[in-house]
Amino acid sequence: MSSGLIVVKGPASPVLSGRVADAMGISPLQLEYKIFPDGETYIRFPESVAGKEVAVIQSCYPPQNKNLIDLLFIVDAARDMGAERIAAVVPYFAYARQDDAYRNGEAVSARTIARLAEAAGASTFLTVDMPSNKALRFFTIHSENLTCMGTIGEYLKTLSLRNPHVLAPDDGAIPLAETVSATLGTEYAWFEKTRDKVTGSVSTSGKDVDLRGRDAIIVDDVISTGKTIANTAQIAKKQGARTVTAACAHLLLTGDAEQTLRSAGVDQVFGTDSIETGPGSHPVSIAPVLAEALKKTW
Ligand code: R5P
Repeated sequence: MSSGLIVVKGPASPVLSGRVADAMGISPLQLEYKIFPDGETYIRFPESVAGKEVAVIQSCYPPQNKNLIDLLFIVDAARDMGAERIAAVVPYFAYARQDDAYRNGEAVSARTIARLAEAAGASTFLTVDMPSNKALRFFTIHSENLTCMGTIGEYLKTLSLRNPHVLAPDDGAIPLAETVSATLGTEYAWFEKTRDKVTGSVSTSGKDVDLRGRDAIIVDDVISTGKTIANTAQIAKKQGARTVTAACAHLLLTGDAEQTLRSAGVDQVFGTDSIETGPGSHPVSIAPVLAEALKKTW
């Protein structure tokens, strides 16, 4: 690992970046940061990062446009100051879901973000559990989609669930379910989800899984409206699940998601410190995963 590494506290990830720095045995760099009365952001490095390797930890959860522009300002300023290498560490990669033109004429938003991050000066892009690896093809710099599912599995072990069974709510979540079930030493199954390309509404068809008397664990990358998890939870309950726990990397809980999950019979839901504001519980830290990846990268 480089001795010149600086971990920058992105304004959206002050807690997480502190934990990453701790895990690497260094102090994080606090930027000067203020918001002008009209909403524009001011960012200043209080010390030189010339010749250093700089990791900017900034998860781009809602308000994603603001968090993204702040990320770009920080990366660009670090490059201007002569940073040797810059890692944009973006656990929640906003717009990653729009990784293709699924209808003619659609903006491929993930590609735009990749281009902007590179244009600002990032030499590495690290993200965590995005819906698929497809968006990685937009980067010409080193990019990685890390997973925190092993850490989530370790946390699930502490919950004393009874004869747990892991469920993936769609095929995209199969690798996540595989990792969590391997960590727990239990089985997993996956359901099929279809999403209407125009309205975005989701429908789920289950598989014949005997969940009688068992505690179901549904894992996903993101929980936003909660509808994906709610559909899966309802099927799990019908198939006899005693309780339903939902776990994800990025717990957004937009709108009335909490109510949607409760009504579907979800007993508990949690995420990670990828998200630092808003509703819900974020007991798992992804800091060890990020610190490990940074050590390997540099
Ligand atoms: C996309 O399919 C993702 O993997 C998630 O399943 C999805 O983003 C969850 O969104 P929501 O909570 O709104 O159903």
